[in-house]
Amino acid sequence: MAKKTILTGDRPTGKLHIGHYVGSLRNRVALQNSGEYDNYIMIADQQALTDNARDPEKIRNSLIQVALDYLAVGIDPAKSTILVQSQIPALNELTMHYLNIVSVNRISRNPTVKTEIKQKKFGESVPAGFFIYPVSQAADITAFKADTVPVGDDQEPMLEQTREIVRSFNTIYQKDILVEPEGYFPPKGLGRIPGLDGNAKMSKSLNNAIYLSDDADTVSKKVMSMYTDPEHIKVSDPGHVEGNTVFTYLDIFDQDKAQVAALKAQYQAGGLGDVKIKRYLNEVLEDVLAPIRDRRAQYEQDLDYVYQILKEGSEKANVVANQTLKEVRDAIGINYFG
Ligand code: TRP
Repeated sequence: MAKKTILTGDRPTGKLHIGHYVGSLRNRVALQNSGEYDNYIMIADQQALTDNARDPEKIRNSLIQVALDYLAVGIDPAKSTILVQSQIPALNELTMHYLNIVSVNRISRNPTVKTEIKQKKFGESVPAGFFIYPVSQAADITAFKADTVPVGDDQEPMLEQTREIVRSFNTIYQKDILVEPEGYFPPKGLGRIPGLDGNAKMSKSLNNAIYLSDDADTVSKKVMSMYTDPEHIKVSDPGHVEGNTVFTYLDIFDQDKAQVAALKAQYQAGGLGDVKIKRYLNEVLEDVLAPIRDRRAQYEQDLDYVYQILKEGSEKANVVANQTLKEVRDAIGINYFG
């Protein structure tokens, strides 16, 4: 049976944090290592530029950081194709063709774009490129004929929009060229980690993140600053474990579930201090983060090699995307010169 094709991607606007790791990276590595998929991983620098046109340096710097983060968590260029969006010209032309079969109104209704436009405070000056990024994302997905797209809930509207474009295209041009993608969602509750401050989301702008590139000292300081239970004042006080970020992290990262259950019971009864439980969490996190940090440091020694990986991945991706573009041009009938 033919392998399924996965496309995932990230906008490079900074380094990746453990929220990315929990929400997608570790899942991507597992899917990669299952050997059941053709795996494309896109660094979506062009999409990042849609609201950073005046600061391309930020995107350039983030590109290499994200590549290092990928390699550090175990994305293996021998098993996955890591590509750079801006180096795949066919994506731009596909975007143009799709723009002709989608309405401005339909894009305006995309909930993800709506929310982001509010968050980013563009006012009256939403960049047109930003506004249409769902269509460019449809180009990303269809260029590789991806049938499986692992995403968080916030990206589901992108998939819905992509499926509509695929159906419209195949209907209008009476060809079965483009492939409708399906979402691949992490099991409920497993995909999200709160920020250090207990906020539901970990993010750079909230300054509540642990980065994959943080050194051991920084991680330990961040863990010591974490939000716990405001009512747990003295060690002897009974404490709450629900909504207590330290225990949420332990639930996610500690493989020793019996140990976590015992610690929770002790904390709830009273007699387990925050400092002690944070020290323990720090050890658990180090088990996960130290190997990632070490691998990252190795690749960082040889950035030329990392760029070479991106170049080769992009070359491979160009072959596939150009073939899809040829089929799309044939379908529309604009391959005038053969
Ligand atoms: N929109 C995604 C993000 O903001 C990045 C992305 C671009 C993407 N193209 C994609 C994700 C294609 C999945 C498939 O992180």
